[in-house]
Amino acid sequence: MKSKIITLSIFSMLLFTGYNANSQTVHNLGILNARPVKYLSSDFDVEIEKLISQMTLEEKIGMLHGNSMFANGGVPRLGIPELKMADGPLGVREEISRDSWKPAGLDNDFATYYPASGALAATWNTQMAHLFGNSVGQELRARDKDMLLSPAINIVRTPLGGRTYEYMTEDPFLNKEMAVDLIIGLQNNDVMACVKHFAANNQETNRDFVDVQIDERTLREIYLPGFEAAVKDASAYSIMGAYNKFRGEYLCENDLMLNKILRDEWGFKGVVVSDWAAVHSTVKSLENGLDIEMGTKKPFNEYFLADKLIAAAKAGEVSEKEIDKHVKRILNVLFQVKAMGSGVKDRVKGSLATEAHYQDAYKIAAEAVVLLKNSKNELPLKLDGVKSIAVIGNNAIKKNALGGFGAGVKTKREITPLEGLKNRLPSSIKINYAEGYLERYGKKNKGNLGNITANGPVTIDQLDPAKLEEALETVRNSDAAIIFAGSNRDYETEASDRRDLKLPFGQEELIKKVLEINPKTIVVMVAGAPFEMEEINKRTNALVWSWFNGSEGGNALADVLLGKVNPSGKLPWTMPEKLMDSPAHATNSFPGDKTVTYDEGILVGYRWFDTKNITPMYPFGYGLSYTNFEFKNVFSDYKSYTTNDVIIISVDVKNTGKVDGKEVVQLYSSKTDSKITRTAQELKGFNKVFVKAGETQKVTIKVPVKELAYYDVANKKWTVEPGKYTLKLGNSSRDIKKEVSITIK
Ligand code: BGC
Repeated sequence: MKSKIITLSIFSMLLFTGYNANSQTVHNLGILNARPVKYLSSDFDVEIEKLISQMTLEEKIGMLHGNSMFANGGVPRLGIPELKMADGPLGVREEISRDSWKPAGLDNDFATYYPASGALAATWNTQMAHLFGNSVGQELRARDKDMLLSPAINIVRTPLGGRTYEYMTEDPFLNKEMAVDLIIGLQNNDVMACVKHFAANNQETNRDFVDVQIDERTLREIYLPGFEAAVKDASAYSIMGAYNKFRGEYLCENDLMLNKILRDEWGFKGVVVSDWAAVHSTVKSLENGLDIEMGTKKPFNEYFLADKLIAAAKAGEVSEKEIDKHVKRILNVLFQVKAMGSGVKDRVKGSLATEAHYQDAYKIAAEAVVLLKNSKNELPLKLDGVKSIAVIGNNAIKKNALGGFGAGVKTKREITPLEGLKNRLPSSIKINYAEGYLERYGKKNKGNLGNITANGPVTIDQLDPAKLEEALETVRNSDAAIIFAGSNRDYETEASDRRDLKLPFGQEELIKKVLEINPKTIVVMVAGAPFEMEEINKRTNALVWSWFNGSEGGNALADVLLGKVNPSGKLPWTMPEKLMDSPAHATNSFPGDKTVTYDEGILVGYRWFDTKNITPMYPFGYGLSYTNFEFKNVFSDYKSYTTNDVIIISVDVKNTGKVDGKEVVQLYSSKTDSKITRTAQELKGFNKVFVKAGETQKVTIKVPVKELAYYDVANKKWTVEPGKYTLKLGNSSRDIKKEVSITIK
């Protein structure tokens, strides 16, 4: 495992330029220097025992539940601080009041807004994950916090998922590779990652009670690998239990998940924090593995792990030894991150919203943009003779650092697409902006499927005739046109899933009309999750995908459109032609009611499309460049291997075009003569490489044979089936360029 991750990073290291000057992290230098994973030590055991012996029952229990919205209770008389937490996946959230969700109203909590996790995953660059983690870790320290409620790594099971933008991918391998580097980068700053939401939390609909049923093999192969790697390979110090149930038990009191799998099997030694108000019991939660109950909207002493736990302990329903176990875990992580003890004076100080951090956000954003279509080479934009450009669409000006339900970032810098173009285009070119469509929402009804549907006579999908005409007139009067469409963070949001995959607000009609006037219009989608775009895709020659892409998102996007940055992002999930093509919907197993059974089993994402031979709109791993790459001379170091070996695959990647660029070599494994049910192919390695125009780079991907294992349910273990395997190298799951056969003995 380790050796693979390390080597995967070597070549991405070559393309990785510049590292923020504030960084305190020794960066991974491939095989030369292993990454500094900070495992939890037992260095503080004696001090912890001493503290425990001095604490009252009430003081101990005070540490096991929220004593404000984002901290548990400390014990000042013994020098035990509160464990201070902050969301989240987009950067460090603004300070929230101690006893309500109201923002605290500070003026020193403006932070860098980082690209959302979907964008980060689209870089397919583990160095970017590390950079992200390190940068946000610095900000977390500057805000004097101990724990970041991130990364969010649930698998994207359905494209409707309200939190798709906040999660990384549909693929467990890409998920774990990115998560591990992010956590390592983050935790090197004397802070804890809180990896969420453990586990099988893949929909917002009925999330407070839905009972998820997943067969054992699917659980192990698809839904757990990210968490397992976070614990074993990155030593994540904290895990957040999810809202929903799994196999009949709430996830914050789920003995199987928290005690048996997380702790006994994986050796997790950190703390389990509940999602906010996800706890339903007192003794059961504690005994089944929860350490800290966090919540919302009720007096803190009324939490399950507050007065009720004191009463239970006094009544002898739970032992003090059990309580001590949880308190010790919390003390341990506090010591490890130097929140207490003699380490405090050396703790990372961090820095907030610095230019260096904005540039970190820029680098990630620039590698995240995906070029989906460029059939007439309209991109990069050619400016010769262009005196004016029509910029159409509300998404050209929409900000996404905040919005919707859930964690965002209060920031002083969010460059919109329109501002990015203004910053980057020569001043001689006139930008003619028209909003085109209006954001219109029905009344919100939190937590129900389709709650964003319209209410009243005006549907959210209607265009305003005057706005439409203004946009079309603007296009007629401009030499070139770009339309920014998609969604936003009010539309894609935590607590509800989307009603369908149609573009909201009448955008499809608008785009079609704009394309009728100027067929060369560049269509740019800004969104965090797939849309049905067949009609648009047919009509446009140039289609670009951007994301909720952080503070510098607009600059990065403009640089891609103008060719300063050659796009190298790849889709981290499949874009289906129609919702019903995707597995959870084709099997009619979303969203369930009280129970949801994942009937597609292991066939999640491209595993379904590739096994069932369904053509997606754009496949997993797909993304174009302004140049072309050829894969040549593919070799495996041997023809046959045993279970403990590492397969080394090398390939020459030639840049056959006229501009420098980055390509992601993706390695999928396939076993056609298997005795067990298999997917057509599975991602087992990837490597992003920078190749100058006309040059060739040798890329190596190492695959430990153990990566080829399936989960053998009967024997409860990972098993590598002997025999022939085909390793396929491509630049998307549907564009395999070379294959090698190997044998496992
Ligand atoms: C979300 C978590 C988040 C927590 C605190 C919950 O609603 O599910 O991801 O960390 O709130 O804001």
